[in-house]
Amino acid sequence: MPGIFSRTPKSSEADAIFDPQGVIPGHVGIIMDGNGRWARARGLPRAAGHRAGTKNIRRVLTESVEIGIKVLTIYAFSTENWARPKDEVDHLMRLISQSIQEQLDDLDANGVRILHSGRLEEVNPSLQKEIRHAIDRTRHNDSIVLNVAFNYGGRAEIVDAIKEIMREGIPPEEVTEEVVSQHLYTPDLPDPDLIIRTGGEFRLSNFLIWQAAYAEFYSTPVYWPDFDEAELRKAVAVFQHRDRRFGKIEDTER
Ligand code: IPE
Ligand code: IPE
Ligand code: MG
Repeated sequence: MPGIFSRTPKSSEADAIFDPQGVIPGHVGIIMDGNGRWARARGLPRAAGHRAGTKNIRRVLTESVEIGIKVLTIYAFSTENWARPKDEVDHLMRLISQSIQEQLDDLDANGVRILHSGRLEEVNPSLQKEIRHAIDRTRHNDSIVLNVAFNYGGRAEIVDAIKEIMREGIPPEEVTEEVVSQHLYTPDLPDPDLIIRTGGEFRLSNFLIWQAAYAEFYSTPVYWPDFDEAELRKAVAVFQHRDRRFGKIEDTER
């Protein structure tokens, strides 16, 4: 009797195997979540989780280059994260400044181009300067783009784009999706193909809400400091098994 059991079941995502020759997502966004819980599970303060998480960026970046990912956008601090206790916010600000100081030479030597998404004008002036310097110094690099979403919010980004469009006096009838995209923080980047969230939640938390319209979403319970090379390959393997239709139907179903 034909029925639901007659179809060959699609292999489960857990069995997906990474194919280095397969399609590689050009732009991957990562919501680096779970630092606090990683630390708590080890009886450590949250700050230790943020340190371990910051250290992990390098490992995942290197593997991204290896796989052939062209753009990596990492969510480092959201516009909502200011609501955390002041000492945690201060620690996160110090960590980004420290990472730039410690890693800029090495990132530059390895061809990493640094970009920033977010409201830079709201962070302290000396950190603004460090971030602008990192962007400027690496602007001709082309092994990978590391776009750091820092003091970033997807809604803030759309509001900022609307303000800019109005300032430029673009008439309403000329406002298209293309025009909006061109007024976002990083107009030259392609939309993300894959959004990875570590730490087990299934939400965007205001990350790339415009750009992720057709991104594949992957959530893993692994906490960010534990998300290693193999975990990245697993995420890309699942992406390779997804069927991206963009609203269309298969040719064979016409
Ligand atoms: C993500 O880890 C890092 C930032 C949001 C800056 P969390 O600090 O949110 O860690 P959890 O979610 O509390 O475990
Ligand atoms: C998202 O994580 C922001 C970053 C990873 C920087 P959060 O921990 O802030 O998100 P929620 O509060 O769980 O939604
Ligand atoms: Mg969190």
